[in-house]
Amino acid sequence: MTEIPEHLLKRSKAAKAKADGAEPPADAPAAVPATTAAAVPAAAKAAVPATPEAPVVKPDTPVVAAYKARKKIPVWAMLTLSILPVWAFMYLRALTPGEVEAAGPLGVGTAAWATNCSGCHGADGGGVGSAYQLSDGNVWKTFPHIEDQLRWVLYGTKNYLDAGVQIYGNPEREGGAHVTGASGGQMPGWKGAITDAEILAAVCHTRYDLSDVERGEEFELWCSPESEIFAALEEGTTTLAMAHEAFADKGVLTIGDAPAAGTSAG
Ligand code: HEC
Repeated sequence: MTEIPEHLLKRSKAAKAKADGAEPPADAPAAVPATTAAAVPAAAKAAVPATPEAPVVKPDTPVVAAYKARKKIPVWAMLTLSILPVWAFMYLRALTPGEVEAAGPLGVGTAAWATNCSGCHGADGGGVGSAYQLSDGNVWKTFPHIEDQLRWVLYGTKNYLDAGVQIYGNPEREGGAHVTGASGGQMPGWKGAITDAEILAAVCHTRYDLSDVERGEEFELWCSPESEIFAALEEGTTTLAMAHEAFADKGVLTIGDAPAAGTSAG
């Protein structure tokens, strides 16, 4: 049997007396739990803090003592540390070249390539499945002339098939000419899907970023930050299809507004 402590018995008696007296139904349920065994541990616990006569200041536990005795970081060090993230941010910014090229064809082209082309050809142009490798000089083998490549990217496999053009690139390509649709995949046409300036920029990226080639006349005319053709396309004063007219004095080959057979080097 559970021994019921004296003070609880007293409390229970008092509760009973109260229940017998005023407003019995409302008060009764509240009073009952105090007498049950379940209430005993709670009541006993509650009684404990009452026993010490006066509240004594307790000695710190080891954890608290250690906390209070810890070596504190000096204010100057705190300030220096708080500036670290800002410094790291500025340091990283200074390391990234970015800005300078971002405006020119190669800067625009890097972004246009990442958004529109890398999904099929691979981020580094290494080729995936039917989407040919363009990097490491491969795109140069198919397209000795940038105009032929621009026309191909403008119109894509379906338009070339519809027009009956079988060889979109160099017919004397080292390793064999690439025949429209022969890869088993379809190259989308990009005319109207992205701007002409973006198409030129993406093509510049495939020719000059994905291959380590010398940057000569073609680069100056089409892909350098000073390229007049790129500027004209951005301003909308000409289109790729009409570039041969606008830049006739620069020896630009006809890209035109329809698929056409590719040309060999020279
Ligand atoms: C949906 C997948 C896909 C996307 C996106 C794509 N290509 Fe292609 N690309 C192909 C396929 C497939 C071929 C081969 C087409 C054929 O056999 O007719 C190809 C061929 C090419 C070729 C000819 C390469 C050669 O040596 O014959 C070039 C250049 C090219 N793509 C550039 C681009 C550019 C630039 C972009 C982005 C503006 C792009 N591609 C986006 C799938 C894609």
